[in-house]
Amino acid sequence: MLWLCTWFILLLTSQSLARGLGDTSSLASRRTAPYAVQQPPLTTDWTEQVGTNPWPEYPRPQRQRSEWKNLNGIWQYQAAASLDAVKSPPFGQNLTAEVLIPSCLESGLSGIQATSAVYSWFRTTFTIPNAWRAQNVLLNFGAVDYEATVFVNGQQAGFHRGGYFAFTVDITSFINATTNNELLVYVHDPTDRGNYVIPIGKQRLVPSHIFYTPCSGIWQSVWIESAPANYITQLDLSGDMYGQVNVTVHSASEHSTAVQIAILEDDSVIACADGTSNQPFQFHVPDPNLWSPESPDLYNVTVTLGEDMVSSYLGFRTISRGEVNGIQRPLLNGEFTFLFGTLDQGYWPDGLYSPPTREAMEYDLRVLKDLGFNMVRKHIKVEPALYYRACDELGLLVIQDMPSLRLVENIQESQQQEFVRQLDLMVNQLKNYPSILGWIIYNEGWGQITSYYPEFALTERVRQLDPTRLVDSTSGWHDHGAGDFHDNHHYANPQCGTPFYSTPSTPYDPSRIAIQGEFGGVGHNLSIEHLWNNQAAINTINQTYEMDADLDAWNARGHMLLTELQDQVRQYACSGAVWTQTTDVEGEVNGLMSYDRRVKRVDVQQWRDDIQGLFEAAAERVG
Ligand SMILES: *[C@@H]1O[C@H](CO)[C@@H](O)[C@H](O)[C@H]1NC(C)=O
Ligand SMILES: *[C@@H]1O[C@H](CO)[C@@H](O)[C@H](O)[C@H]1NC(C)=O
Ligand SMILES: *[C@@H]1O[C@H](CO)[C@@H](O)[C@H](O)[C@H]1NC(C)=O
Ligand SMILES: *[C@@H]1O[C@H](CO)[C@@H](O)[C@H](O)[C@H]1NC(C)=O
Ligand SMILES: *[C@@H]1O[C@H](CO)[C@@H](O)[C@H](O)[C@H]1NC(C)=O
Ligand SMILES: *[C@@H]1O[C@H](CO)[C@@H](O)[C@H](O)[C@H]1NC(C)=O
Repeated sequence: MLWLCTWFILLLTSQSLARGLGDTSSLASRRTAPYAVQQPPLTTDWTEQVGTNPWPEYPRPQRQRSEWKNLNGIWQYQAAASLDAVKSPPFGQNLTAEVLIPSCLESGLSGIQATSAVYSWFRTTFTIPNAWRAQNVLLNFGAVDYEATVFVNGQQAGFHRGGYFAFTVDITSFINATTNNELLVYVHDPTDRGNYVIPIGKQRLVPSHIFYTPCSGIWQSVWIESAPANYITQLDLSGDMYGQVNVTVHSASEHSTAVQIAILEDDSVIACADGTSNQPFQFHVPDPNLWSPESPDLYNVTVTLGEDMVSSYLGFRTISRGEVNGIQRPLLNGEFTFLFGTLDQGYWPDGLYSPPTREAMEYDLRVLKDLGFNMVRKHIKVEPALYYRACDELGLLVIQDMPSLRLVENIQESQQQEFVRQLDLMVNQLKNYPSILGWIIYNEGWGQITSYYPEFALTERVRQLDPTRLVDSTSGWHDHGAGDFHDNHHYANPQCGTPFYSTPSTPYDPSRIAIQGEFGGVGHNLSIEHLWNNQAAINTINQTYEMDADLDAWNARGHMLLTELQDQVRQYACSGAVWTQTTDVEGEVNGLMSYDRRVKRVDVQQWRDDIQGLFEAAAERVG
C-alpha cells in the first residue's frame, strides 16, 4: 500500500511537471480556454467527483505492466476543419480549449460539450521517467472514436480505425528521453454522416428516442509504459472446468522466444509452464476452484517473456451447449444455467460513453447482482477493460454484442469488410474475460445483409477466433438458422421458446437454445430533475414501448411479465432472457433505474423474489 501511495505521488508530480515544461517551452503565445465541467442536460452523483485526474486505475488488468504512467487528465483540444487538416498538424502550439481525457467531446465532463465534433485535434506533453532509459516506450489508448492519427514530436507514429478498440503505438523511436515530448492526436469521427456506414452502435448525429448523442474522441484511458525491446503484445489465455489452460503469448518480435507462465493462489505458485512465444501451448492445474456467477473465483497469473513480465488473471470454467431432457440448453461447467440479464447500454448523462468513474461503472453492476441477475447483455457497445474485470469479479455473465452499423438498405462490400475486421478486433480483445459467455453478431437486422446470409460465415469466423463461447448470430428479427441461439425479441411480453411468436420473429427452432434477447421495456415518466433535459428527447418519451402511470403500476407490470416468463420457462424451452433495460437513456424512460441513477424504480424485494422464481422454475424444468 505504501509503495502504491509513493508511486501515486510521483505520478502526480511528474504530470504537473510535464505540463509546466510544456508551457514554458512554447514559442508563440496563445491562450487556451481553461477546463470546466459543462452543465449536461442531467448530472449524476459522480459528476462532481471526477475532477481533473480521472480514471487513475491501471486500465488493462489482463496484461498489466508495473512501469506505467497515466496520461489521463487535462489536455488541449481544438476543432479541425476537414479530413485534410491531418496533413498540417498544429505542432508546438496551444490549442483553443482544455479538455478532460478520457471523455466524449459531446459530454459535459469533456468541458467542451461539442454539438459537432467530426474533426478534432488533441494535444498533451509528457516526460519519460528516468528509470525507463534504454527501454521501449509504449503509448496505449483504451479507445478513440473513430479514427486516430497519432503524432509524437512532429512525426506520425501511428494510426488506428475503430471506435471501440484498444491500440498500442511503440513510440520508442519518436521520443526524447530527456526533454518534454509533444503528443498530438487527430481524430475523425463521422458517426452516421453522409455515406459513412461504420460500427456506431446507438450513436447518431441527430439523436431520436432509441438513438442517442454520439461520442467522439479519446473516450478511454491513455497511458505510457516501458517494456524491453522484445515484449508481450497480446496474451490469449483461457481455463476450463478440467483445469486445462490454453495460452498463446504474442510477442513484438517474430523470433521464437521462451515464455513462462505461473498461476498463483494467495501469492503461492500452484502451477507453472514453459512455452514459446507466438505458439499455443497447454498445461493443467489440478482441481481448481471453478468460476461461476455464484462463486466467481479468479486466479492471478504472471507471464514472462525474456525481460518482459505482465500480470493477468484467469477463471476456470467451460461454456458449452447440450441437450438436457430433450431441450437445447446453455451449459456452464456442464450444467444448465438459466441466463437472466438486462440490456445494458452503458450510457451516462455526464459522460455518455465514458462512465464518470470506476465506482459509478461498478454501481450499475452491483445493483443488478443484488437483484439476482446473473448476466448482462452488453448492447452494441464495447466497454473499458475494467468493466469486464468487474463482471469477472462480481460473477455476472456477459453476452457481448458487436456494435452495429446503422440501418441502411445497401451495405457496400468494403463497409462489410470493415465491419468484419472490427468484429475480429472485438473478439480478440475481449476473449480472455471469463465472464463472457457468448457473442452477438447482429441486433434486429441492423447492418445485416439479407441478400445473402453472411451470419453463417461470420458465426464460423467467430468460432474460429474463440471456440470456447456460444454465438448468438442474430439477436431478433432476421433469423435463418445460424448460430447456437434462437433469439426472440418482443415487447412488452416475452415469447421465449414458445409455440407463439410475432413477426418479424420466426417460430421457435428446437434445434437451438431459446432465448428472449429483449422484452420488458416498460416505461414510467419522471419529474424533470431526473430526465435528460433536452426538449427533443422529452418529446420522444411517449414512443417508449409502454408507459405506466405510476411506480405501483410499473412494478405490477414487472411482476406480471416476469411471472409470464416463469410460465414459459416451466412449459416451453426458454433458457434465458434479457430485460430492457438497466437504466433510462435520454428519451427512453424504461430503466430499472433513472438515467441519473438517483431513482430506483424497482421494488427490490418483489424483483428479487420474481427473479429467484425464474431460476427455480428452470431448475424444476430440468428435474
Ligand atoms: C501557451 O499558453 C501559455 C499560457 O497558457 C503561454 O504561456 C505559452 O506561451 C503558450 N504557448 C504557445 C506556443 O502559444
Ligand atoms: C533531446 O533533446 C535535447 C535537448 O533539446 C537534445 O539535445 C537531444 O539531442 C534530444 N535527443 C534526441 C534523441 O532527439
Ligand atoms: C484449448 O485448446 C483445445 C484445442 O484447441 C480446445 O479443444 C480446448 O477447448 C481449449 N480449452 C480452453 C480452456 O480454451
Ligand atoms: C491477486 O492479487 C491481488 C493483488 O495483486 C490480491 O489482492 C488478490 O487476493 C490475489 N488473488 C488471488 C486469488 O490470489
Ligand atoms: C414526461 O414528463 C415531463 C416532465 O417531467 C413532461 O415534460 C413530458 O411531457 C412527460 N411526457 C410524457 C409522455 O408523459
Ligand atoms: C408524443 O408527444 C409529441 C409531443 O410531445 C406529440 O407531438 C406526439 O403526437 C405524441 N405522440 C404520441 C404517439 O402520442
